[in-house]
Amino acid sequence: MEFGFVKDYSQYFINGTISTVVIAVLTVLLGVIIGTLLALMKISKGRIPRIIASAYIEFIRGTPLLVQISLVYYSVSFPKFVFLGIEMNRFIPGVIAMAINSGAYVAEIIRAGIQAVDKGQMEASRSLGFNGLQSMRYIVLPQAVRNILPALGNEFVVVIKESSVLSVIGIVELMRSADIIKAAIYKPFEPLIVVAVIYFVLTFTLTRVLGFAERRMKTGD
Ligand code: ARG
Repeated sequence: MEFGFVKDYSQYFINGTISTVVIAVLTVLLGVIIGTLLALMKISKGRIPRIIASAYIEFIRGTPLLVQISLVYYSVSFPKFVFLGIEMNRFIPGVIAMAINSGAYVAEIIRAGIQAVDKGQMEASRSLGFNGLQSMRYIVLPQAVRNILPALGNEFVVVIKESSVLSVIGIVELMRSADIIKAAIYKPFEPLIVVAVIYFVLTFTLTRVLGFAERRMKTGD
């Protein structure tokens, strides 16, 4: 094996890494918004919102991300334009598809996080005179956040890895960079190994940071 090409193609690896990180951050942010709405719908009293949220979550989790990405990409034709060196007509549907997917998983994280707070907390709060909304806001949610944040961190790690699937619609993230270099130097293994190492460094660093944050949060108990 020979890794001399890394220097010549370093810009591809750097751009790919930046794209992957940007995509993951946007996906998690949008995913949290979608997921919060779905989670609220799912624990609400209304039958219709509950059914809609459940159907969404089941459908998204029951179909492959690869299929969802292609569906979004081919169903809406975004205008072809380049912004900051990124082809937006691929990038936008790619991020939307990832967010739609992640939202379903985040919804379950948030719902589970809220429901894991002991029922007695809500009851005690109500008996002290808080109304339902106030109890949620001041008593239940602050405790739920401790269950939710670590799981959201995991979701971030998953999204970094799963974003590699976006290479199928031609978004030049890490995986696609490897493909491009592979074709340029006629060697499949080496670029893939470099990319695998970059993914690992990203996820491992993130896991470490999250573990640290989680321990800090625990000491507040
Ligand atoms: N590999 C899974 C699929 O094809 C995607 C899982 C996405 N998971 C997540 N937590 N966002 O459906």
